[in-house]
Amino acid sequence: MYILGIESSCDDTSAAVIADGGLLLSNVIASQSVHEEYGGVVPELASRAHQQNIVPVVDAAIRRAGIERGELSAIAFTRGPGLIGSLLVGTSFAKGLSLGLRVPMVDVNHLQAHVLAHFIKETPQTEVPEFPYLCLLVSGGNSQIIVVRSARDMEIIGRTIDDAAGEAFDKCAKVMGLPYPGGPHIDRLAAEGDPEAFRFARPRIEGLDYSFSGLKTSFLYTLRDNLRTDPDFIEKRRADLAASLQATIIAILMNKLEKAVDMTGITTVAIGGGVSANSGVRNAVAAMCERRGLKAFIPERKFTTDNAAMVAIAGYFKYLDSDFCPYNAVPYARIGS
Ligand code: KG4
Repeated sequence: MYILGIESSCDDTSAAVIADGGLLLSNVIASQSVHEEYGGVVPELASRAHQQNIVPVVDAAIRRAGIERGELSAIAFTRGPGLIGSLLVGTSFAKGLSLGLRVPMVDVNHLQAHVLAHFIKETPQTEVPEFPYLCLLVSGGNSQIIVVRSARDMEIIGRTIDDAAGEAFDKCAKVMGLPYPGGPHIDRLAAEGDPEAFRFARPRIEGLDYSFSGLKTSFLYTLRDNLRTDPDFIEKRRADLAASLQATIIAILMNKLEKAVDMTGITTVAIGGGVSANSGVRNAVAAMCERRGLKAFIPERKFTTDNAAMVAIAGYFKYLDSDFCPYNAVPYARIGS
């Protein structure tokens, strides 16, 4: 059994093949550099780049897997959420290939794919989580705590009420003059700075929900106030600002994650999404799990950002349930749209 996964929700065109049991045979990603000069993803340009990339990327994934097209059992594709023009490219391509090869099509929710990325097996010995587990999903568009009872049964028990953690990284990095996306730059700078040099606002909201807008404002005010007396403030304190910002974001994330552990009593904790590539986030989750005797699943960095291997594994679970997608399916930009 071979499942082809196709991911085109934002600015990465990716295709992957997995075999029975979730064994990864190939995972090809074409990233789009065209957006760099604009300081963010330009949807129109992303769709066009997907059109250019999709055939060679899928072709390479099948070749690298060492199989023939005709051996594929199903085509899994990201149906949403994401940029609609980008999603249309992957969806249309999946339909064409599925019709041409006469194999079923499986639609995948991009966020669930991030959560299930822990089941990708690079070797038959790769350890995978047992259900139930808690997943902290942190990306450019989402910050959620999810109870994962099975591959099909997930409940969001905490979510951001304003910005996502990735947006907090990126927007603060932008006002410091760092390139987009700023998250990885903050991560790198933070390693050389003092995490206690500055104190930024932390939200005080009940329950398991997140908020990052207050932090963003307080970061902005710190820069504004200090720049009044020292025009070179950012330049001089870059590393300390990055380290303090990162430490605050991590403290906010960990506070609710620990609460979720207390409330649910679940003993396995996983992380996923682009921000889970952050060194500080990874260390904090690993340390919390170690301290509390929990099992931690920290994905390899290549599976934290958008990739088709996670789409293929999510599609694999639906394929096992014969949960196929009709040909009149259309992509969705947001959940519920
Ligand atoms: O999941 P993802 O690839 O896609 C979107 O949701 O768009 O997440 C992208 C986010 C961006 O905000 C980026 O700055 C952040 O993940 N990110 C990081 C790191 N690597 C990526 N944030 C902090 N530290 C990193 N090392």
